Amino acid sequence: MPAWLKDAIFYEIYPQSFQDTNADGIGDIPGIIRRLDYIRELGCNALWLNPCFASPFLDAGYDVADYYTVAPRYGTNEDLKNLFAEAHKRGMHVLLDLVPGHTAAEHPWFRESCKAEKNPYTDRYVWTDDVWRIPEGMNTIRGFSERDGACVVNFFSHQPALNYGFLNPAESWQQSMDAPGPQATLAEMKNVMAFWLSMGCDGFRVDMAGSLVKNDPEQEGTIALWRQVFAWLEKAFPEAAMVSEWGEPDRSLRAGFHMDFLLHFGPSHYNDLFRCDNAFFAGNGDASAFVKAYEATRAKAEQGLICIPSGNHDMQRLTTHLPEDGVRIAFAFLLSMPGAPFLYYGDEIGMRYLWNLPSKEGGYSRTGARTPMQWDRTANAGFSAAAPEKLYLPMDPAEDRPTVEAQMADPDSLYQEVRHLIEVRRANPALGNLGKLRFVYAPENACPLVYLREGEGERVLVILNPSEKTVTFPWTEGLGKRIYGQGGAASVENGTVTVPAKSASFYRV
Ligand code: NOJ
Ligand code: CA
Repeated sequence: MPAWLKDAIFYEIYPQSFQDTNADGIGDIPGIIRRLDYIRELGCNALWLNPCFASPFLDAGYDVADYYTVAPRYGTNEDLKNLFAEAHKRGMHVLLDLVPGHTAAEHPWFRESCKAEKNPYTDRYVWTDDVWRIPEGMNTIRGFSERDGACVVNFFSHQPALNYGFLNPAESWQQSMDAPGPQATLAEMKNVMAFWLSMGCDGFRVDMAGSLVKNDPEQEGTIALWRQVFAWLEKAFPEAAMVSEWGEPDRSLRAGFHMDFLLHFGPSHYNDLFRCDNAFFAGNGDASAFVKAYEATRAKAEQGLICIPSGNHDMQRLTTHLPEDGVRIAFAFLLSMPGAPFLYYGDEIGMRYLWNLPSKEGGYSRTGARTPMQWDRTANAGFSAAAPEKLYLPMDPAEDRPTVEAQMADPDSLYQEVRHLIEVRRANPALGNLGKLRFVYAPENACPLVYLREGEGERVLVILNPSEKTVTFPWTEGLGKRIYGQGGAASVENGTVTVPAKSASFYRV
């Protein structure tokens, strides 16, 4: 694992909505550079940028039309190179978003692949050999190409699946993983990675990383494929970091990834904590299923980081189902768990999910979590000098919408809490990305949630009680210094700790 991941805290930027510098209403790379000091001051030292490559933007850029060129609306390759350099100057690292599973339908490879005549791209995508033959359990598009066949798609129907082969080819049109077509696709994806890594990029977040090989129910083919990639990467770019959108760390870390996310889909019970009607951090939910799932995956997972994001561009905002104090306790959790923390832009000030926005660039219900960053009290909250109707998405219209400016000036703001939590994490090695974790208390449908962190000879007990009740848990060891607190302090007597309602505490033990 690259050494820099040991203390990496990531900030995810949806480039469209972060900072516009040329008044076209869309965020851009110079805007990200302008805000690097802000991110560094918050305490984050690494970025993940959603795809910023040439694209028709039918899925916000997850439909790549050219893997080697920055989308003109964000700037140029030179701008991105500058971003890498400016980040490095500040001791920061930058991950780009790699979308290896599919391209835009308008990608030149796909145009070639649609032709009846055989050419170098004929086998770049997954096609059947007869337009009337529709493979079971796969979505296809068909009836638009000269070529006779149906083409498998990965996500939306405008995202044809790149061909990495089938685990066990069963029909004539299915190719094996080591056939020339799939091998050429993989070689090209490595070229894409090498291109950006050579320019100064520090690694990738990998979209749908578990989906590459087809008819691969246990993902063994995809795991083998990534292991090949990592064998190459570790030699060619040993400092490159890779985080998968997979959601099953027991598989992804085995595949060689350094980090995987727990996500709002998959087996993690992530939603139980933050995003459901009875979310744990709202005070009356359950964390025990999450803890069980976490322990189960951790027991099977190899070395690597299990990362719990505050949110991302695919789900509602952290504030949607949680009250303000619940959001703060949730951050105490996010910033005291092992793995690299990932903060979604704007979560540090409690930006809100906007309901009922018309879909933008394939966002649909995700659109409300992608609105422009709220910086200050100037026009468009400092996001852009464009006319409001020209903005990528409307600003949160609420009069009391949170802004960075107001929260920086307010010692009691969420921003200050998050910043402080990051400081506490950095000051206490036990709380770090690689520190150990042992759950001490995680009752069903009750509080508190208690866990012990350990590292470099230091131990910290984390006690989280988002409920409205005073609660207790058994603990025979006593409590040392309280190194972080929100709400009242806990007290210990006769082997029982009493924890005030709506509180979060970290104790040295
Ligand atoms: C996951 C990405 O996070 C999402 O935004 C995208 O739509 C799909 N993958 C398809 O690439
Ligand atoms: Ca712009």
